[in-house]
Amino acid sequence: MANIERGQRVAIVTGASRGLGRALATGLAQDGWRLVIDGRERDTLAVARQGMSGHVVALAGDITEASHRDALVAAAADLGGVDLLINNAGTLGPSPLPPLGVYPLGGLREVFEINVLAPLALTQVALPALRAAGGSVVLVTSDAAVEPYPGWGGYGSAKAALEQAGRVLAVEEPAVRFWSVDPGDLRTRMHQEAFPGQDISDRPLPESVVPAFRHLLRQRPSSGRVRLSELAVVA
Ligand SMILES: NC(=O)c1ccc[n+]([C@@H]2O[C@H](COP(=O)([O-])OP(=O)(O)OC[C@H]3O[C@@H](n4cnc5c(N)ncnc54)[C@H](OP(=O)(O)O)[C@@H]3O)[C@@H](O)[C@H]2O)c1
Repeated sequence: MANIERGQRVAIVTGASRGLGRALATGLAQDGWRLVIDGRERDTLAVARQGMSGHVVALAGDITEASHRDALVAAAADLGGVDLLINNAGTLGPSPLPPLGVYPLGGLREVFEINVLAPLALTQVALPALRAAGGSVVLVTSDAAVEPYPGWGGYGSAKAALEQAGRVLAVEEPAVRFWSVDPGDLRTRMHQEAFPGQDISDRPLPESVVPAFRHLLRQRPSSGRVRLSELAVVA
């Protein structure tokens, strides 16, 4: 597999049809990255793809399905490899957020399936290419992984599990960087689902964190937890 020329690096961004994933993918495309993006709703993904410049392969599908994960990595290989995997796709789970004492276990399984097992499984498929490229993996996390907010126990415990998987991967896979990235509160569909019926117009748009994310990619710090708000000043 040829290494990618500077400006021609390849990234996979999951959940890039709206929200944070769409903003990050649009920024990466502007910076010359070749992209493979996904999302389950085909039409929404196609509209997002139209707003991205350059070489972007959009594959509609569900990251909980092995064949879709294989297709994402195969498409990246066709573009030259995998320099960056952004595990962004995620779910809040039931809305309104149920307390853990009565959390429906079927819903909790789905939260862990989408937010923990699927990104780990996609990382497993991409690892050979990531090792070859000396690449990086972003695990999009949340302050709910570390703070005990009432109602956030299902989503938060899944994000905590994702972060711990990232810490272990970092020591097992020294050729690859693993960053658990907390983007802060953002004005997206998921955030609205967390606060149904409430006005969330004071939350920043997802595009607002793209400069801090660019700073992260430029600096390439050691594996670890990153709060984008702490990079925002320098970015
Ligand atoms: N918004 C916030 O305040 C906030 C704060 C901290 C962390 N985060 C994290 O940021 C990430 C993005 O969240 P967001 O707020 O941008 O949410 P969003 O607006 O709901 O976007 C989620 C994206 O993921 C896709 N997706 C969901 N499930 C999928 C699946 N099974 N397979 C493939 N794609 C899937 C969605 O498309 P389809 O539905 O069409 O599949 C969509 O593109 C998540 O990991 C979230 O936990 C968000």
